[in-house]
Amino acid sequence: MNYRHAFHAGNPGDVLKHLVLVLLLDHLRRKDSPFAYLETHAGRGLYDLAADAASRTGEHESGIRRLWGEPPGSPALARYLEIIARFNDGGRDGGDGDRDRGRGRPSDAAATSLRHYPGSPTFAQALLRADDRMTLCELHPEEHQALRRQVGDDPRVGVHRLDGYNGLKAFLPPKERRGLVLIDPPYERPDEYDALVRGLQLAHRRFPAGILAAWYPVKRSAPLRAFEASLAAAGIPKILRVELSTRADLDPKAADPDTPERMVGSRLVIVNPPWRLDESLRAALPGLARRLASDEQGGRWRVDWLVAERPADATGSSAHAGSSARAGKRRRHR
Ligand SMILES: C[S@@+](CC[C@H](N)C(=O)[O-])C[C@H]1O[C@@H](n2cnc3c(N)ncnc32)[C@H](O)[C@@H]1O
Repeated sequence: MNYRHAFHAGNPGDVLKHLVLVLLLDHLRRKDSPFAYLETHAGRGLYDLAADAASRTGEHESGIRRLWGEPPGSPALARYLEIIARFNDGGRDGGDGDRDRGRGRPSDAAATSLRHYPGSPTFAQALLRADDRMTLCELHPEEHQALRRQVGDDPRVGVHRLDGYNGLKAFLPPKERRGLVLIDPPYERPDEYDALVRGLQLAHRRFPAGILAAWYPVKRSAPLRAFEASLAAAGIPKILRVELSTRADLDPKAADPDTPERMVGSRLVIVNPPWRLDESLRAALPGLARRLASDEQGGRWRVDWLVAERPADATGSSAHAGSSARAGKRRRHR
């Protein structure tokens, strides 16, 4: 286990993942009844962008840093930035959402400097209400300890040093019978995609009404296609696919299958996506792709069904995919 998310926090992959996470949690908050949030690969919870790891890679410079202090351009992005601002308030970091226990308060992203980037458990903790619950799995000992410290003494949260896929068996279904599962593995294992398909099948079997989301990189076209084909055939209905790519697309013919390729973007699959999630994403992603594009060919987005919502829908339709490369020419990034 060599992966440390501190090197990658706030990169374009995190922007997409956490933007979607906030939309999903806000959807769950619309009903009064409590919900459960389960995360299989939680990370340490909060990242210092001035620390050595983040400074060495500078990945946040091509992600959150480009969005900070700029007009958000969509309600979804505004909400995501507002939550990050709670952790960047002149040293009053923390942010406790509805249960204001004096560890932070909402603030205006434009007025604060960006030093800390919240991980997914911290976005979720900020959005939990008094009776909602969160269960986090993190296997790495140091990350697990850091995560425990980050969530603090919060009776709504359980932190477990446990393999995330075993966490699906241990904690599903939740007693609330409504909620969200996020699977965000580091993709270090050669069989990670197989484990992910099995994990999603198991989670869906145990918690058929639950929203399940999984993040994965757009790197090599062959493993990506094999994973999506295998998931499409896994017997799980209603899977929305979302992509944000910021670098030029891979040329499948030029790709040497033995050479690791750089990441050009990332995707999420979402089982049981809330009604109109696709609309919110279609409003947010074109502007985001334009602003995060690293070159003229970069800046692509897509929102489509990997598995049809209804039998009549086309599987894998790319009708709503888009590219903002041309628009990217008109704007220079900071
Ligand atoms: C991509 S990071 C998670 C980032 C986090 N979800 C976020 O968005 O803030 C993946 C994490 O999984 C942890 N990990 C690796 N293998 C694991 C396993 N089998 N079970 C649980 N956690 C694992 C790593 O230590 C790492 O912290």
